[in-house]
Amino acid sequence: MASGSSKEAPIKGDSIGDPPLRGHGPIVSVEGLTIRFGSFTAVDGLTFSINRGEIFGFLGPNGAGKTTTIRAITTIQKPTSGKVTIDGHDSAADYLEARKCIGIAQQHISLDKDLTVRQNIKYHALLHKIPKDVMEARVSELSDVLGLGEHMDKMIADLSGGWKRKAAIVCSVLHEPSILFLDEPTAGLDTQSRHLLWELVRTLNSRGTTIFLTTHYIEEAESLCDRVAIIDKGKMSAIGTVDELKSMVGSTTVEVTSGNRVETHHFASMEEARAFADGIKDSYINIRMTTLEDVFLAVSGGSLR
Ligand SMILES: Nc1ncnc2c1ncn2[C@@H]1O[C@H](COP(=O)(O)OP(=O)(O)OP(=O)(O)O)[C@@H](O)[C@H]1O
Ligand SMILES: [Mg+2]
Repeated sequence: MASGSSKEAPIKGDSIGDPPLRGHGPIVSVEGLTIRFGSFTAVDGLTFSINRGEIFGFLGPNGAGKTTTIRAITTIQKPTSGKVTIDGHDSAADYLEARKCIGIAQQHISLDKDLTVRQNIKYHALLHKIPKDVMEARVSELSDVLGLGEHMDKMIADLSGGWKRKAAIVCSVLHEPSILFLDEPTAGLDTQSRHLLWELVRTLNSRGTTIFLTTHYIEEAESLCDRVAIIDKGKMSAIGTVDELKSMVGSTTVEVTSGNRVETHHFASMEEARAFADGIKDSYINIRMTTLEDVFLAVSGGSLR
């Protein structure tokens, strides 16, 4: 599990490979963010911050408003109301400066599948106006660190889903953003590719890049994120470290099974859980640690799958 919000982000120098500059305070502040499409409210008054240097996860089911929130923070979608500040820049008034701090790998990969990885990378470098010599040094370093070497001259169309995602992420960090947004980075990938992607995210984070990712995989939020926000129907249901979220509902869970019916009850301590279980007759009892899925069910009343 991630180490919690006390993790220190390294401080940047000027040379290639140094992690991005660390400032003060949260890197992203979102206040009262609301996005409506006609009469439908997709994002409903979200207020939260992302700490510098952390891996922050948005966990929620399909249609929860994860992509719409990312699109608003990254200045692609104009909010109906609310305010977003990115590294000190107001994302509406000062969007050109705000954009310089941001890297984004969208939910639907937007690479040119008829070009090689290297050609896609060069294209992105051109978009970001990165000088050729700087780009070449950066690409060679990123390709080494992220293990993309043997795939650099393959066509995107010929890569597996996991390598396509890796290539897209490399393109999104070429300009060395201080915060990287990953929208469902591992959706549809097999377990092995998912773990490789997690390693890539950890590597980028350990080099100083703050990460904001969305996911509907509980285990992804649990193993990768320093802090997790659970969102559902455009609203924030809970936010904190995984341990804080579990403590919020009660870190010990008692499952009571009678026939086909399973009820879960959460308690602050094992003693309280045992005392409750001792009073139950004619049912099967299972006492276990609370999981993030329990938290999700308790705070939103829905299912992630
Ligand atoms: N341009 C739009 N016009 C109308 N409704 C939209 C638009 N974009 C998103 N929505 C709706 O807003 C809600 C939130 O969508 P969003 O894509 O943000 O969800 P999500 O959490 O990213 O879901 P998923 O896990 O499926 O990617 C959905 O009900 C979606 O249909
Ligand atoms: Mg989405």
